Amino acid sequence: MVQDNYDQSPHGFWSSNTMFVLAAVGSAVGLGNIWKFPYITGENGGAAFFFVYLICICAIGIPVMMAEIMLGRTGRMSPINSLLKIAREQGLSRKWGLLGWAGVGGGLVILSFYSVIAGWILAYVFRTFSGEFGGVDAATASEAFGDLIGNPWMSGLWFTIFLVATGYFVARGVNRGLELVIRFCMPLLFVLLFVMLIYGIAQGGFGQAFQFMFHLDFNNLGLSWDSLVIAMGHAFFTLSIGMGAIMAYGAYMPPESSIKSAVGVIVVVDTLVAVIAGLAIFSIAYADGLSPGAGLGLLFTTATTAFGNLWGGVVFGGLFFLLVTFAAFTSAISLLEPAIAYFVEKFNSRRAVVATVCVSVAWILGLLSVFSFNLLSNFNIEIGGEPWTIFAFLDHLSQWIILPLGGLFICLLTAWFLPWKTVGSTLEVRSLEGEVWWKIFAGVVAPVAIFAVFALTFF
Ligand code: TRP
Repeated sequence: MVQDNYDQSPHGFWSSNTMFVLAAVGSAVGLGNIWKFPYITGENGGAAFFFVYLICICAIGIPVMMAEIMLGRTGRMSPINSLLKIAREQGLSRKWGLLGWAGVGGGLVILSFYSVIAGWILAYVFRTFSGEFGGVDAATASEAFGDLIGNPWMSGLWFTIFLVATGYFVARGVNRGLELVIRFCMPLLFVLLFVMLIYGIAQGGFGQAFQFMFHLDFNNLGLSWDSLVIAMGHAFFTLSIGMGAIMAYGAYMPPESSIKSAVGVIVVVDTLVAVIAGLAIFSIAYADGLSPGAGLGLLFTTATTAFGNLWGGVVFGGLFFLLVTFAAFTSAISLLEPAIAYFVEKFNSRRAVVATVCVSVAWILGLLSVFSFNLLSNFNIEIGGEPWTIFAFLDHLSQWIILPLGGLFICLLTAWFLPWKTVGSTLEVRSLEGEVWWKIFAGVVAPVAIFAVFALTFF
């Protein structure tokens, strides 16, 4: 067994190894897989983008995730204090703590706009159950979506409900209630994604969808430099890495768990959910004459048309959106955990108090994203000649800059600044080859890849 500071976490522990894996899967699988992955793959041309995304997951995502969990597990505290503690013990600069701070800030930024999208999903739970979408066609479905996001009161209300619920859950502690949600809702969500897929197949859109996602045309990759940074940013986003969420979860890991096998499960499940969601959504889109590049309403339009035209669609459709809400929920709580854990350690205050403060900050910031689709839709921030709404700005800032930068330093720290003895024993890699592989991937491949994508995009 690994020697670690098992008894030192002030926040409690996952009740078992399975629970840790479930929580991490819950964090990874969310709107990133079901809402975002299909629409950005659609907008960026399909197969080539998907291919680059897969490379990013393997070459960057896996090493960063292992490094992040390793740091959390070694420090056994909030990301900021874990990093400070590790730096102190190894005689490194206290500046490593800034990495934790970037994560706390990044987490609140992501949470702010993430909750806006999750709020729309929540609104759709009720709209679908009410029967509004019975027999709906694609045009009506997209109009209905436009009505929701264009209404600041409606989307503001659902956003607030989602955010408050997240805060409430986080305030209650790391694992109470989470197990139930993840154990039952995740598999059911998977089943309903399959129902959507089967509907898409029955409607005759599957062939085109499959072609679009997997057929690489080397003469015409249709990939821009922008697509590269989008693919890399999304790899970070979908795996919940680069800001300390997984580091915080790693701190609560029971000592008998293995980081390697946990990472394997998380990455496979996360990718699988994204692929199934993508295939289902593209099949429906093709069958209904929608473009895969229809933008951020794609999930809403395709899912409502599919379920709206299926037997029992009111119930299954409503259930589908409910399960997506749960998936968003288990992700959102992980965005908040690093901040909560740190402030609890720092001020020795109750989780509920800290959660209230953090949620309030995210709420104010999130309102700006709510209004980006209505009141403030003409308020643009000009970057590189492109006008961005506040929502787009926060979205890009976090995924293109904060997360990759966080990942870069996390890799460098574990590969070059910490003694291999510590790293290797926590990762349970004791051979010399293991060390060499680790240095190659976490120390060279991942940092160079991140840096190269940065360089290509910004210079
Ligand atoms: N991975 C989640 C998703 O795909 C979102 C998420 C949760 C996240 N925690 C995170 C993204 C931490 C980045 C960092 O929906």
